[in-house]
Amino acid sequence: MKTKIAKIKDLSDPDLLWAAELIKKGEIVAFPTETVYGLGADALDPQAVKKIYVAKGRPSDNPLIVHIASVEQLYEVAAAVPETAELLAERFWPGPLTMILPKSEKIPPEITAGLDTVAIRMPNHPVALELIRKSGLPIAAPSANLSGKPSPTSAKHVAKDLYGRIALILDGGETIVGLESTVLDLCGAIPTVLRPGGVTAEELRDVLGDVRIAAEISDNDEKPRSPGMKYTHYKPAADVLLFEGPAARVAEKMNGMIARYKQQGRKAGLLVTSELAAMLDAGSCEIRLMGSRDDLPGIAANIFALLREFDETDVDIILAEGLPGQDIGMAIMNRLSKASGYNIIRC
Ligand code: TXA
Ligand code: MG
Repeated sequence: MKTKIAKIKDLSDPDLLWAAELIKKGEIVAFPTETVYGLGADALDPQAVKKIYVAKGRPSDNPLIVHIASVEQLYEVAAAVPETAELLAERFWPGPLTMILPKSEKIPPEITAGLDTVAIRMPNHPVALELIRKSGLPIAAPSANLSGKPSPTSAKHVAKDLYGRIALILDGGETIVGLESTVLDLCGAIPTVLRPGGVTAEELRDVLGDVRIAAEISDNDEKPRSPGMKYTHYKPAADVLLFEGPAARVAEKMNGMIARYKQQGRKAGLLVTSELAAMLDAGSCEIRLMGSRDDLPGIAANIFALLREFDETDVDIILAEGLPGQDIGMAIMNRLSKASGYNIIRC
């Protein structure tokens, strides 16, 4: 299949109209959101949805998020909308918050992997919103990467993974948030974060009071409740080792390992803040700077692109710096822990 990458300059672009036609015809299209790029299909068409799983190589027991462009559509895709969901929609939509609610009969089981709940979000990106409006449909979309790879934050990343597998990639530039949405389960007694993301737990508590963080986010032994959480994820070609602890101790430990790798003739990649980089004897290592420790949103925006950049180098191993787990740091650490396969060195 030939893949067209279409730069969308304004919302009257004919390629955006073509994308909506493809969705209506049961085809799949990659499009930008504020978090990461998505791979979309008509959420009401099981055959179209199956094409997403095939293109990504995604396990069929990992359910998809349904994207909407108006609050009216929320009542179409959810069977019940509690007051908390309305409050959250008012505060955070359009934006990086996905709510899990009971699913309406319209939503086919292919989307929800057979669950009786559905994940719903209104993305904050003009191209995504216009695509949903022009197609007149709710759009099911996972991140537009090959299953297991870091999520795409540019059209180039999507093309790297899915070129030849899909007809059209809408290019809306680099995404702003850079990490996927927060997944919040509203079906239990206490709202529970199943995946930390663009909206922080602190922001949710502001609106809801009590909010739980699912045990598997901090404790890896628990059985994951968000089905997608159990798979290898965000992994570059080289193995990742994640370092946690005070900067001075992390620097000492990393310097020791860098020296050892050098002796062994192995090449290390370093994924570190500018502050830690200043404390390292990096030699000929491939360094990728995340940004400053004081700018966690900036780091969030960069992290997936940097993980992908190591695939363009010949590094054998990637040493990554851990960050404080507050605010958006919780989401960054969640993705880095997964990228490392929970290979974490506590210093
Ligand atoms: O920011 C985002 O959320 C991006 C953009 C494209 O919107 N989408 C995204 O989709 O990250 P995906 O498929 O990569 O991740 C969806 C997550 C998975 O962890 C999945 O298991 C969970 O949401 N999920 C979906 N439906 C669920 C449900 N009914 N119950 C629990 N978890 C669910
Ligand atoms: Mg994904």
